[in-house]
Amino acid sequence: MKTLLLVGIGAGDPDYITQQAIKALRRSDVIFLLDKGPAKHKLNALRREICARFLDGHSPRFAEAQQPERERDAADYRASVDELNRDKQAVFEQLIDEQMSHGEVAALMVWGDPSLYDSSIRIVEGIVATRRDFDYEVIPGITSLQALTARHRIPLNRIGRAVEITTGRLLADGWPQGVDSVAVMLDAKDTYRRFVGHGLHIYWGAYVGTADEILIAGPLDEVAERIASTRAEARERNGWIMDSYLLRKDGKG
Ligand SMILES: C[S@@+](CC[C@H](N)C(=O)[O-])C[C@H]1O[C@@H](n2cnc3c(N)ncnc32)[C@H](O)[C@@H]1O
Repeated sequence: MKTLLLVGIGAGDPDYITQQAIKALRRSDVIFLLDKGPAKHKLNALRREICARFLDGHSPRFAEAQQPERERDAADYRASVDELNRDKQAVFEQLIDEQMSHGEVAALMVWGDPSLYDSSIRIVEGIVATRRDFDYEVIPGITSLQALTARHRIPLNRIGRAVEITTGRLLADGWPQGVDSVAVMLDAKDTYRRFVGHGLHIYWGAYVGTADEILIAGPLDEVAERIASTRAEARERNGWIMDSYLLRKDGKG
C-alpha cells in the first residue's frame, strides 16, 4: 500500500501549521512539491521552512514536479479547469509511481485547507478509484478566510446569518441571494468595485499571514480605489498576488 497525506499547512504564516499536520509530515517518507514557476517560489520556500522548523530532525526526501498551468482567459472556464485537473492527475500519478516505494507514505503540503478551492481531493479521488494499492488521508489546515477574519478581528458571519463563499468570477454575476456577508476568493479583476454605492463594508487582505501582508478595511465607497491601486502595485512588485476579502452589508460585526 502507498499512502498520500493531503496536509493543510495554513495559508501564509508557518505558525498556522497544526500539531496534526506536523505529525503527518513526520510520518512521511517523501514530500511532493509542485513548482508553480519563479513568481511563486516563496510558497515552496515556506513549505521547506515549515519542514525545517517543525520536523524535529526527521528529514523526508523532497520530490519536485512542475505544476501544470490553467489556460488563462479560456472561453470555457469549466473545461479549462477539467483539463488542468487531468494534467495534475498525471503529474500526481507519476510522482506516486516513480517517487514512492510500496509501504511508503508521501505528503502533499496543501496551501490553507484542502477542502477550500483546491482540487487535490478530487484529483486523488480519481486516482484511488483506479488503484487498489493506494489510499489517502486529509489533514485540515487554517484557510485564507480564517486568516483574513483573524487579522481584521471580525467574525465571518453576522449573528444567525449565512455567509456565501464565492469567487470573483461568480460575484461578477451579481450579489448572491439571501446573504449579507460574502467572502470572495480568486478575484483577479477587482470585482468589489462593481458594488461601490451599495452601502457595503469591505475587509481586504493580500498575502495574509506572510511578511508581505497588506490589510485594508472600511466603507467600500471610501476604500475601493485605494485597494485597487495597492493591489496593482503589490502585484507588480511581487510578480503575483493572492488576496481575498469579505464584503458585508450594514457595516461591522
Ligand atoms: C486556489 S485558492 C486556495 C485556497 C486555500 N486552499 C485556502 O484554504 O485558503 C487561492 C485563493 O485563496 C486566497 N488566498 C490564499 N492564501 C491567501 C493569503 N495568504 N492571503 C489572502 N488570500 C489568500 C486568494 O483568494 C487566492 O486567490
